[in-house]
Amino acid sequence: MGIFGTILVLALFICGFKITEAVLGSSPDFDFENYHEFPEIEHYVREAAWRNPSFVQLRQIGKSNEGRALVGVKIAREWPAFHLSVYFIDQLIRGYEVDPVITNYVNKLNIYVFPVLNPDGFIFSRTSKKSIIRQWRKNRAPANCTGYVNNKRRPMCCEGVDLNRNYDIAFKQTNYPFNNPCSDEFQGPFPFSEPESRAVRDFVLSPEINGKVHAMVSLHTHGQLFILPYNYHKQTYPEDYQELLGLAQQVSETIRALHGTEYRLGTAPDMLGAPATGGATDWIKKNTLIKYVYVIELPPELTTWFAFQMRAHHLLSTAKETWHGMKVVINRILIEYA
Ligand SMILES: *[C@@H]1O[C@H](CO)[C@@H](O)[C@H](O)[C@H]1NC(C)=O
Repeated sequence: MGIFGTILVLALFICGFKITEAVLGSSPDFDFENYHEFPEIEHYVREAAWRNPSFVQLRQIGKSNEGRALVGVKIAREWPAFHLSVYFIDQLIRGYEVDPVITNYVNKLNIYVFPVLNPDGFIFSRTSKKSIIRQWRKNRAPANCTGYVNNKRRPMCCEGVDLNRNYDIAFKQTNYPFNNPCSDEFQGPFPFSEPESRAVRDFVLSPEINGKVHAMVSLHTHGQLFILPYNYHKQTYPEDYQELLGLAQQVSETIRALHGTEYRLGTAPDMLGAPATGGATDWIKKNTLIKYVYVIELPPELTTWFAFQMRAHHLLSTAKETWHGMKVVINRILIEYA
């Protein structure tokens, strides 16, 4: 009963992505052509595990500020074996012992999928019709009253921490604008101040993952970008950057071949100009043995303003093409480690 290789797929944020058509099987029903609320996604995850005890295991790695479970599944045969991520779970469950490719994945790898790692922020973003709230990206940490808006002198109270700035990498109190509690990208008072980022840290450092997981993909919206480490500084790369880039190129070519969706590849500061400190994948690349660490910023492109929520009718095709890309990553892990 060996763990041959492992893929870790984490969906870290409140992104509006995802997705599928429902068929039969032991996967719970889920309408992938429309968005869903957090309780429905959580229910899907729990139900998927409950229905498939032979190879799907429920995992809870912690709780959010407001006490919601950070749940995902481990899909592995040997355990007596947010919407795109739910689609991946669905594909793996439906394909097992039906599609030889999927059966091989499940038999040889451990695959972890956490659809929503910021449930409080996700739920909050769905509570309003105001775009400022629907685009919410932070968690729901209590207000900090040292913030400001538009350089006004009067301090303001603002809620929430951007979990993807809260990791302990290049974190400095002087990092502007991440040190402003009213910024959408507020880094928090100190590294790992938030229960959600601590849960991910502890999970990836645990012996179950560290040294056994070889790839991790974090799904975000939006921009059609395939983001490699490092992002805390321009022109800063891990030693194996060329290997990471080579695989990323294969993935993006596979995706483009389907319906022409074109991803840009590179580090975020090299592509966009502005470094971002405290990022989850930067920290994971530096502090764990996980080799292939990526962020995928899903369609549409950055030039599409305020497009964090792609239109629902794009969900399914985006899910399908992204899943094809994931298979390229999984195949590489099988070749290198299985
Ligand atoms: C509020 O934010 C500032 C800036 O990051 C920080 O120095 C301070 O400790 C925070 N206060 C609390 C109560 O977290």
